[in-house]
Amino acid sequence: MTISIRPCDAVLGAVIEGMSLAQVPNSALIEEIETALEKFGVLVFRNQHLSPRQQIEFSQAFAPLELTELEKARLPDYPEIFVVGNVGNGLVSFAPAVPGGELEWHTDHIHHEVPARASLLYALEVPAQGGDTLFACMYHAYNNLDKEKQDLCLQLEGINSAEGLEHFLKRQSLGDTTSSVGKRQYQYIKRPLVREHPISGRRALYFGNQVTIGIDGWEDEDARRFIYELTEHACQSAFRYRHQWENGDVVLWDNRRVLHAGTPYDVVNTRRHMHRTTWRETEPVRLVV
Ligand code: OGA
Ligand code: MN
Repeated sequence: MTISIRPCDAVLGAVIEGMSLAQVPNSALIEEIETALEKFGVLVFRNQHLSPRQQIEFSQAFAPLELTELEKARLPDYPEIFVVGNVGNGLVSFAPAVPGGELEWHTDHIHHEVPARASLLYALEVPAQGGDTLFACMYHAYNNLDKEKQDLCLQLEGINSAEGLEHFLKRQSLGDTTSSVGKRQYQYIKRPLVREHPISGRRALYFGNQVTIGIDGWEDEDARRFIYELTEHACQSAFRYRHQWENGDVVLWDNRRVLHAGTPYDVVNTRRHMHRTTWRETEPVRLVV
């Protein structure tokens, strides 16, 4: 199979043509895709037709998969699929409730013991308007900090917790949509604010504007302000690719390098229905200074 790779008009992202994800890739194709994923951060595949089983088998060729903890995001009989949208058991959204609302920039599962290496999101049905997904390149974000800020970030560890996501969702009146915590205690997971990509060795900022609720050793107020300002810089439009979904699109992103955020859509009058497979991280999250 010969695939073609067309870079998007942005600092990250490429469209891959000439392949169907319904077939399990051979080792040469796996390598091509992994190389492209490292190079572009976000890969788009159009016009796909995937059964849950085919999406799982394609994804498993690259990595072990996460099982869906959140009950309303589970697809019966397919624990590896995470259902996103407003079709099914209830609303599962990563977006503000209204246009112009605060975004939830994040990298998947930074607040879990084992984070996600990459995520593959397949659009079965999307609204004609709204519900875009934004992606921001954290290589660019880090490289474009001034030297003093870079040195500071290299010394810091973020504290990450579902608590931050729940507060965000409460402010949107969307309730408990991304967490499976329920009445359990929250976990607080420390991560270096800058991580090195295990393939490229490049440095990327690693945090989320809602999920990173503190900085180790800092007062909450100072940490909040710092994360807010870091997000303004890191997720500025010059570092972004915006994906406007069409039915049949698959987008694969590298959680080691990219932050992403959903944008709102009309959840009452339109339908958005997506299946995600989440590739478990297999390398340590680290920074070598
Ligand atoms: C996700 C996610 C964004 C969107 O599935 O991890 O963040 O636009 N989705 O649905
Ligand atoms: Mn996500």
